[in-house]
Amino acid sequence: MRLFSLAIVASTASADCTRAFLKTAAADYLAAQISGRPSTFTIHAASNFTYFENNNALSPNSTNSTLTYPLKVDYNYSVYDTVRCATFTEMVAARDPHPFIIHTRIEYGQGDGQAQLLEAIVTDRGDWLFNATTALQYITAEPWPPVAEEKQETREYLQKIGDLYFDRFGNKSVVIPWGLPCYRVEGGLYANGTMNNATGICEQALPSTIIVPYRRYVVDEEAGVVDVFVGFPGLDRTQGKDPMPDGHLIRVEDHKIKFMHTASACVVPGCGEFDPDDPFKDT
Ligand SMILES: *[C@@H]1O[C@H](CO)[C@@H](O)[C@H](O)[C@H]1NC(C)=O
Ligand SMILES: *[C@@H]1O[C@H](CO)[C@@H](O)[C@H](O)[C@H]1NC(C)=O
Ligand SMILES: *[C@@H]1O[C@H](CO)[C@@H](O)[C@H](O)[C@H]1NC(C)=O
Ligand SMILES: *[C@@H]1O[C@H](CO)[C@@H](O)[C@H](O)[C@H]1NC(C)=O
Ligand SMILES: *[C@@H]1O[C@H](CO)[C@@H](O)[C@H](O)[C@H]1NC(C)=O
Ligand SMILES: *[C@@H]1O[C@H](CO)[C@@H](O)[C@H](O)[C@H]1NC(C)=O
Ligand SMILES: *[C@@H]1O[C@H](CO)[C@@H](O)[C@H](O)[C@H]1NC(C)=O
Ligand SMILES: *[C@@H]1O[C@H](CO)[C@@H](O)[C@H](O)[C@H]1NC(C)=O
Repeated sequence: MRLFSLAIVASTASADCTRAFLKTAAADYLAAQISGRPSTFTIHAASNFTYFENNNALSPNSTNSTLTYPLKVDYNYSVYDTVRCATFTEMVAARDPHPFIIHTRIEYGQGDGQAQLLEAIVTDRGDWLFNATTALQYITAEPWPPVAEEKQETREYLQKIGDLYFDRFGNKSVVIPWGLPCYRVEGGLYANGTMNNATGICEQALPSTIIVPYRRYVVDEEAGVVDVFVGFPGLDRTQGKDPMPDGHLIRVEDHKIKFMHTASACVVPGCGEFDPDDPFKDT
């Protein structure tokens, strides 16, 4: 079963999808991963529930499923999209014997409170720039408080910020609104940019020739967050293979990107071995 056709039928609106429900369901997902008991979450599953890890459909109960591995989670963060009836959860496990960084989006049915789709980007050693220890250190130093109502961005603007970021990968003229501190946590790399105070542009090493498709969003105005799942062509170092499963979590403040965390799973083993001086040299 191919994942990417599902993005086209992604849910768009729900009258009965409350934030309280989404919070409960996301907490149950986190609890399931921490206990290694999928049923803690799958009580919310619709009959046609589909579970993906890095674009592979699995049974959540199978031994292949990371959800059956009791994970010592050091950091978790979730956002809630009541319009799409979807959640996004970030988990960083640095002290576990098997360190992981996991980004997960889950879609629920319209008003029935049943999960139809869970897609997890499950990264560990060898994935793109992976290092849970450094990621935990950088991420926990960042404040991500709820955004006061009068300072909240519109859903449309938040989603547009996500699009501008990925549009820039194929068009050098696109300006990404990005404020200080002008860096992103890319896997476990502190990907530092330089704020050009004359132009107001956060200058960073980014590719310019990559069209990034398969965008799936979770938007939360209260959190000031857009999360974008994409398929990343060009970085799997093979031609004609599936794109790299990738998620970017973006925090927006005062109309600009404040923080960003990425998780990218290698389709081809070893794609995460990089040249730290020039991580984008192959693009
Ligand atoms: C699951 O079934 C619902 C209808 O009950 C449908 O709207 C949805 O598209 C299906 N989801 C998947 C992933 O096939
Ligand atoms: C997973 O196992 C639980 C019982 O632990 C069962 O209720 C559920 O139907 C199983 N789900 C799948 C998709 O096999
Ligand atoms: C589960 O893992 C086993 C052993 O690595 C493998 O043979 C099998 O194809 C995997 N199943 C799926 C659905 O990925
Ligand atoms: C998840 O993160 C919140 C902080 O946002 C924390 O209060 C909570 O204890 C964490 N949950 C678990 C199970 O670690
Ligand atoms: C992660 O980074 C820490 C600190 O730089 C380093 O000690 C450790 O070896 C790194 N781990 C991996 C898996 O690269
Ligand atoms: C590249 O971005 C610029 C600035 O937004 C825009 O004017 C131009 O049409 C874009 N080019 C393409 C080929 O999309
Ligand atoms: C990031 O770069 C700025 C200069 O552009 C520098 O002041 C800052 O110390 C750097 N931060 C890290 C963690 O390297
Ligand atoms: C740009 O402005 C920021 C904040 O005002 C300041 O911290 C930084 O040093 C300035 N950068 C340069 C290159 O002057």
